[in-house]
Amino acid sequence: NWDMSGFIDEQIARIREVVGDKKVLLGLSGGVDSSVVGVLLHKAIGDQLTSIFVDHGLLRKNEAAQVMEMMGKQFGLNIIKVDAQERFLSKLAGVTDPEKKRKIIGNEFIEVFNDEAAKLKDIDFLAQGTLYTDVIESGTDTAQTIKSHHNVGGLPEDMHFQLIEPLNTLFKDEVRELGEALDMPHEMVWRQPFPGPGLGIRILGDITEDKLEIVRDSDWILRDEIAKAGLEGDIWQYFTVLTGVRSVGVMGDYRTYDYTIAIRAITSVDGMTADFAQLPWELLQKISARIVNEVGHINRVVYDITAKPPATVEWE
Ligand code: XMP
Repeated sequence: NWDMSGFIDEQIARIREVVGDKKVLLGLSGGVDSSVVGVLLHKAIGDQLTSIFVDHGLLRKNEAAQVMEMMGKQFGLNIIKVDAQERFLSKLAGVTDPEKKRKIIGNEFIEVFNDEAAKLKDIDFLAQGTLYTDVIESGTDTAQTIKSHHNVGGLPEDMHFQLIEPLNTLFKDEVRELGEALDMPHEMVWRQPFPGPGLGIRILGDITEDKLEIVRDSDWILRDEIAKAGLEGDIWQYFTVLTGVRSVGVMGDYRTYDYTIAIRAITSVDGMTADFAQLPWELLQKISARIVNEVGHINRVVYDITAKPPATVEWE
């Protein structure tokens, strides 16, 4: 639409003027905001932009590959992918408290990002996907605190970046509009929210590679079935949680004692309040059958029918 293309031209001109022939660094998360910033900046300054994508090992199935494919191959961004799974997992080993997990993941993220940034020469600018809502209510919720933390708070003192925040006059829906105007794929632009600590807060208790595989595989099945049912656009957020609960089941002639997966699917306008989504029984039946059949160590699937409040969206 006309307004957005006007906005794009304006921003590109401004970015070029500010940056000149200098270099810009961007932290890509795979989320909508940083991806839109990446595509916009690449359009404006091409290879003067370097992006860092930290794979902390807590992403959904295929997610890292998709980011590299879309942002790197399709849009041509120069991305440094950091495979930091082992670093994160070893720091998280044995940690069960949700807030401790969040803190470890947030801090480790800053360290990994800084280690990579320190290897780069002559970077003058740091680009961020700050939205208008972040500007007016910065630090009011965990998500934002963690985000600003990641990006600004933890930079070493000898790195003096100037910030570039091309989205800081936009609301989320305008960022999505901008993404579409930049020809980004629909599924990227309309992605459901995904928390910074990723699957780390969807495994109750301590995090291990085996548990990550369970939650990744069950989440994949849920997303696949919701997509097949054509319900992606109707549900604000949907995911699976590996509860710490183990219970007795029966498989063939054998008694099992295995884990319980919870399905969380909510409708919401802004994530502040939410209702559980009234998914069709047949769909839930199919998802449940697939999860117990296709994912190891799961013998029970439950559906979370709580609203927010009193429950939160995530289980941790
Ligand atoms: P809750 O669980 O607080 O979630 O009802 C509300 C929204 O925020 C997301 N969320 C997070 N996002 N870091 C983030 O970046 C976090 O630590 C975090 N915790 C929750 C959640 O996915 C939902 O969209």
